[in-house]
Amino acid sequence: MRQRPGDDQPVQTLRWREGRLEMIDQRVLPQRFEYLRYDRAAEVAEGIRAMVVRGAPAIGCAAAYGIALEARALQDAARDAFSAGLDTGFAVLAASRPTAINLFWALKRMRGGWRASQHLPVPDIANILLGEAHEIAAEDIRINRAMGAFGAALLPDGARVLTHCNAGALATAGHGTALGVIRSAVEAGKSVSVIADETRPFLQGARLTAWEMVQEHIPVTLITDNMAGHLMSHGEVDAVVVGTDRVAANGDVANKIGTYMVAVLAHRHGIPFYVACPLSTIDLEVPDGAAIPIEERAADEVTGFGVHQWAAKGVQVRNPAFDVTPAELVTALITEKGVLMKPGRDSIARLFSF
Ligand code: MRU
Repeated sequence: MRQRPGDDQPVQTLRWREGRLEMIDQRVLPQRFEYLRYDRAAEVAEGIRAMVVRGAPAIGCAAAYGIALEARALQDAARDAFSAGLDTGFAVLAASRPTAINLFWALKRMRGGWRASQHLPVPDIANILLGEAHEIAAEDIRINRAMGAFGAALLPDGARVLTHCNAGALATAGHGTALGVIRSAVEAGKSVSVIADETRPFLQGARLTAWEMVQEHIPVTLITDNMAGHLMSHGEVDAVVVGTDRVAANGDVANKIGTYMVAVLAHRHGIPFYVACPLSTIDLEVPDGAAIPIEERAADEVTGFGVHQWAAKGVQVRNPAFDVTPAELVTALITEKGVLMKPGRDSIARLFSF
């Protein structure tokens, strides 16, 4: 049997098993490692919204599989009912989370696959859409490996690399973007260690990045978000590498809330600030960071975590899930086509021309 995308990965965030999508439940890691199963687009959309799966490329892959599942569930229906049902699947997935452009990128690609196969019998369309979802996931791993190789060359041997949130295998189909750079550096024989920001409020750094690095015996030190400046001012950070959810046409970078703070600190201390960014995360239709939609999540993520709620009841809360780092603070974008130093509108546009 042909190997399914990701089958060779140590961490398989999403996998296709017996006609269903399975996703690691990232809400309960690292205490529990378990897969949840999905049969329909609306279920996958809820998994994305609730952050069973999270991280821009992984969200895109999940959405693609959501469409494939919906097409398979509807493949015995008449063509009109199939088309109406699939359109609803697209709409419900598009409404799951607003910031990561990979979600909309993947849905656009799935719609293209549908359009190109529209003349075929409905079961054949469903097969083609599943093939496209597999290809999106397989391509994601290839892209992460390419970015990893380019990014690894930027890190000196012995580098202590601070990262924020989780841009690892769990945030992608495999290998990771920012953590992919670190994995590739380690594979190339470099001795690299990681400083993981805890990443309040959802704790992607403490729960997910730390877990991934511990699994692979890559040295990792966990800090709370407010410790980054102290470590930088004491010369304990050599580089910052983060992922991104959407890069605007001028190079402004949306990523997990707190990234902007890290970028300002890195600039203050002369530390390079790298963003691992597949081309699918660049949105040329958004002129600058101010136009990137920023998701606002539920108050109970800030007043506590899960069932443990510690803030005073009735307090007002803000919970923007992402922030925007201006392009001027970005040392380089690491893409699958190479490293773009000092990214700007013209150099980003050129990336799409070869
Ligand atoms: O809210 P999340 O966990 O989906 O946010 C994830 C991030 O901000 C990641 O840094 C980003 O998606 C890049 S993942 C390769």
